Amino acid sequence: MTPDELETLITARRSSLLIDASRSIDDAIIQRIISVAQWAPNHKRTWPLRIAVITGDSRSTLGNTIADAMAAQGDEAMKVTKTRGKFMRTPIVMVIAAAIGHSDNETEENKYAVAAGIQNMLLMAESFGLAALWGSPAKGANDAITTLCSMKLTDHVMGIVYLGWPTQSVGTPERPTSQITYLT
Ligand SMILES: Cc1cc2nc3c(=O)[nH]c(=O)nc-3n(C[C@H](O)[C@H](O)[C@H](O)COP(=O)(O)O)c2cc1C
Repeated sequence: MTPDELETLITARRSSLLIDASRSIDDAIIQRIISVAQWAPNHKRTWPLRIAVITGDSRSTLGNTIADAMAAQGDEAMKVTKTRGKFMRTPIVMVIAAAIGHSDNETEENKYAVAAGIQNMLLMAESFGLAALWGSPAKGANDAITTLCSMKLTDHVMGIVYLGWPTQSVGTPERPTSQITYLT
């Protein structure tokens, strides 16, 4: 791969939910997308990545689990209702979490490693022509999600990634120029 090709892949990646919910993705593709997450940098090789792959009726279970947690903490009824069905919008969703470290610093760096892993996954998905979106988990639903996904209560859900074949392309949001200090 040339630098130009890599740059094209990185800049072509978009966050999109314009996805065909009825078109499945081959397991082999999913496995390749998952496996690149582990190739992100990982301080002290703590391997904090935790992933749950959710398809079929379990997408609805995930929605209801999160919605119930939201309702229990008094979230707005409209948001709760929307959450029940939101994971049915794509054929697959992945819950991605970071394991706790032995210190606050290690826990923080574990999150950096998992965030880098998620970006690897998004780029791999883009290379297959898939659409994806990294969504934030509902606040206060961490324990409900980790319990459903057979993770530890100490695992921190970094995101819920929606994945599927695109139905349309989306616009490209402008990027500001980076704030860079050059010391020479
Ligand atoms: C940590 C994180 C959480 C995000 N959560 C959401 C979300 O909950 N809902 C959403 O629509 N987009 C979410 N996004 C996607 C951003 O909105 C998106 O990256 C941004 O608009 C730039 O668009 P682009 O990814 O197409 O370049 C999230 C992105 C990150 C990195």
